[in-house]
Order: sequence, then C-alpha cells, then structure tokens
Amino acid sequence: MLDFSLLPPSAVVDGDDLRIGGCLLSEIAARFGTPAYVFDERALRERAAEYLNAMRSRHARSRACFAVKAFPSVAMIRVLVESGLGCDVVGAGELRLALAAGADPRTIVMHGNAKSDQDIQAAIAARIGYIVVDGFDDIDRIGRFASQRTPVLLRVSPGVESATHAALATGGKASKFGVPVDQVPDAIARMRAVPVIDLHGLHAHIGSQILNTEQFEAAVEALASLERFGVYDFGGGLGVRYVPEDAAPSLAEYADRLVAAAHKHLGEDIEILIEPGRSMVARAGLTLYRVVTVKRSARVHVAVDGGMGDNLEHSLYGQRFTPVVVGRWDQEPVLADLVGRHCESGDVITPDVRLACPRIGDLLVVPVTGAYCFTMANNYNAALRPPVIFCAAGSARLGVRRETFDDLLAREVAP
Ligand code: LLP
Repeated sequence: MLDFSLLPPSAVVDGDDLRIGGCLLSEIAARFGTPAYVFDERALRERAAEYLNAMRSRHARSRACFAVKAFPSVAMIRVLVESGLGCDVVGAGELRLALAAGADPRTIVMHGNAKSDQDIQAAIAARIGYIVVDGFDDIDRIGRFASQRTPVLLRVSPGVESATHAALATGGKASKFGVPVDQVPDAIARMRAVPVIDLHGLHAHIGSQILNTEQFEAAVEALASLERFGVYDFGGGLGVRYVPEDAAPSLAEYADRLVAAAHKHLGEDIEILIEPGRSMVARAGLTLYRVVTVKRSARVHVAVDGGMGDNLEHSLYGQRFTPVVVGRWDQEPVLADLVGRHCESGDVITPDVRLACPRIGDLLVVPVTGAYCFTMANNYNAALRPPVIFCAAGSARLGVRRETFDDLLAREVAP
C-alpha cells in the first residue's frame, strides 16, 4: 500500500497515475523527461509558514533562515524567501544565489568553517545580517576587510555528540566547526579588540537528520555556560522520515523543546534564529525516474535512468528510501535493490525494497528527495543533471532546466 505520509502532501492517486500539485506524473515525464526533481510548491510555502508560526507563536522574536545548502537553486530560494524566510549561506557562491533570488541581505547569515578572503569580502560588500565567525582567522579577515561595523555571531562548538551519521554530526568535541566552549572567552575578547566587529550573539548547530529533540536542548544548555547575548542562532538539523519505520519529532515538538530550553537557560529577552534545511524541503520533493531494466540473478536489480548522479544519500550516508512504482498499486511486490545507471556497484538508490511488479518503461518515484539530492548531483558517467519542476494548482513550471551535452562541453578549453 502507498504510504502517503512519505509523499508530498498534495499526492493523490488518479487511476494508474499519481498527481502532485494537481499535475499527472505521466504528463510531467512526457513534457520534461526523466529523471526529474518534482516539487509540490504549495507544500513548500505551507511548510515555511508552519515553521514561522511554530516558532513565533512560542517566541515572538524568532526568525528562520533557509539553509540554502539543502537546495541551492534560485527558483527554490525565491519560493522560500517569498514565504518569509531569510537565508543561511555558506560562502560567496550560496550568497550569490540568495541575492539572485531576491533575499533581503539583512536576512542572510553566512557560515563556513574555512571562509576565504573572497567569501568574507562578498559578505561585507552585500551588507548581510550576520557573518558567523567560525574561528580566530575569521576575526582577522573581517578586521582586515571591513571598513565599517560588521555584525557577527560566534559559532560555538557545544561538545554535543549528536546521534546521527558521523558525516552529519557537527557539534562534537573533535568537530572542525566553530570554537570550542573553553576558547570562547578568548574569541570574544579578540573580537572586542577589533573595532569593526560588532558581536551580537552565539550560534550552535549540532548536526543534521537529528531525530532526538533532547540533543537540541543539550546544545542550548551548553551556550548557557557562556557570556549572555541578545541573539541566539540554534542552527538547523531537525530530522525527517524517509521510511515508514522512521519516527521524527513534529515541528510543534521541536519548537516546544527548543524554545522552552532557550527560555529556561538563556532567558526570554532574546532574538532566536534557526536554520532549517532538510526539514523545510525534503518531503515536498520527489525524484521521478523511468525503469530501464530489471535483472534477475542472485538478487533482483531494478535499474532506473538516474542513480548516484542525482541521489548520493545512500552511497554517502546509507540513507534508505521508500520507492513506489507508479500505477502498480495492488500488484505483488518483489524484493529488489533499486539501482542506478552509473558504473559502480555503490550506485544504489536504496537496497532491499519491495517494488510492485516493476517493468521496463514504468515510472518510479523516490519520495523525500527534496533535500540535498539536487545539491550533490554530479556528472558521473557524463550524466546530465535533472531539471527541477514546481507543481501547483494543476500547472507545472520549470525551475531549473535539465543539463545538456553542450553544458557538459561548455567548460572544456578546446585545442
Ligand atoms: N546550519 C548549519 C550551520 C549547517 O551546517 C547545516 C547543515 C544546517 C544549518 C541545515 O541542517 P538541516 O536542517 O538541513 O539538517 N550533505 C548532507 C547534509 C549535510 C548538512 C550540513 N549542514 C546530506 O546530504 O544529508
């Protein structure tokens, strides 16, 4: 049976087809080709509103900045900025995208554990809301390049070992991110000695795909041992469900715990920022593929026309997904590995899944691919990166076009 809780909220079955935002997937495939990243645009806007409301109803002076790294496209950022979000960018590149999407510079915060001169100069030139100082060299660079008072936050490494994939944990003792708690007083003193640096507050982000709200509370508590400020940015990290067995905190539960911890440990007279990425966009998006071949040997391999070129989540982090063969609603499933078309055995979208009677030419969707899949898409085997399509009220619009073979050749310097 279809688990609608893992599909975009507008998903409905229409005969042997599926509609997202009122659009038939067969028509999307015919018009834009496969593979394609398909979004329920209304779900994105509603999620942004839900996030803002969850925070502001508990703490009026709250702001949410979309972590652009989760979907670094102007089309996506524009939808979320129109919905009232600011942007968390890493480096000059993401800053460029946020500005192109029309984000107000004052609502942008810039991160980076190794910001280059160019990153810092771009942030200063754009007069963004906050540069998040990640270490002592950021202080020196801002001092060198800023000619007027520049608002900053200090990223603290709170020493919280979050229970997530090791590559996604960022707040532990050995992290490359931020300044460890015991060095924070020194960092603050250094900043106060630089006249152009205007320190407003502290930041902590403990990692991504966090399913346990107690860990967010632990990070807030770690900040309470430090000097008090007027602004606190608690990063992102709220996890989402990818498979039916996953249990993820609701937005209400997350906001309850985070705001209560902030009030308890830091007081009520503060401004709170958060930086959601995955939990803002993941469920609103799915990847639409076509089945290319089915091989039955020691295992059944169902191969589609994409793979690790458009979804590295399983290859890098062992993430599992819940794919659906469109139209084969009541058919007997086979146990299969869903694989891609790329030339390595690690090219698995998700292993050991039940797929209903997949045949060549069938459309297949992989839900909950709205975060980080587009981000890390690549050209392995000279694959063309997929388009991004936004569906709403029965019409589909292209946000990002499919790459072309000419795009692949565009950077080559021909002899
Ligand atoms: N703020 C900071 C400072 C971050 O480092 C991150 C994510 C976020 C916010 C957003 O976290 P989220 O709400 O999305 O969990 N490439 C990996 C994800 C790495 C996330 C890194 N930082 C993946 O594909 O799963």
